[in-house]
Amino acid sequence: MTVPVLTIDGPSGAGKGTVSRLVAKQLGWNYLDSGAIYRSLAIDVLKNNVDFKDVSAVVEVAQKMSLVFECGNELVVKLDGIDITAELPSETTGNTASIIAAYPDVRAVLLQKQKDFQLAPGLVADGRDMGTVVFPDAVNKVYLTASAEERAKRRYKQLIEKGIDANLVQITKEIEARDRRDQERTTAPLKAAEDALYIDSSELSIEQVISEVINLVQ
Ligand code: DC
Repeated sequence: MTVPVLTIDGPSGAGKGTVSRLVAKQLGWNYLDSGAIYRSLAIDVLKNNVDFKDVSAVVEVAQKMSLVFECGNELVVKLDGIDITAELPSETTGNTASIIAAYPDVRAVLLQKQKDFQLAPGLVADGRDMGTVVFPDAVNKVYLTASAEERAKRRYKQLIEKGIDANLVQITKEIEARDRRDQERTTAPLKAAEDALYIDSSELSIEQVISEVINLVQ
């Protein structure tokens, strides 16, 4: 029997992470944070002083990357056996991830790593191209978005709560730049799958979004 997949795609800061994790918990399904895979690669590239503009060098790092996701109560990510979870949320990591994610050869290397998460009893997959490229046959697809201002405010709050220094004006600019880069790239651009349920969370609480998503699955 095919393992059911629920894909949740959307731009940075739309609440996908929180919603996906909580929906996965309610359903008792596995959770794939595909952004964390791109972010881990960014960390690997930066740590090894590899030029992130050198596509073939980045592809080589992606091919050799030894990444383990430990999905307990909180997601723990280990790169070469070292816990890098705390480094994942930074803006430098996110921006570098967005740049290297535009390379088609990098995406090709990371494709199978993402598909491997489709394990029983089900999978909630969070990202940009989950419903369009990685799991096009998913039974349920959601496109979750919010205005850039609202997303910048949420990201700012998240970073401050994690003790990371942040500037709201700069975050807004970075979010808009990242949206453009993710939407305008030629391979697997950020866009809603034709069969996705479109949810704008600007005026909705997390609970309201979760209940819409759970209704869709059930
Ligand atoms: O969701 P996130 O902010 O953690 O993702 C970081 C970057 O990784 C994002 O700007 C683009 C890239 N990404 C991607 O290209 N495809 C995905 N499925 C997930 C993330």
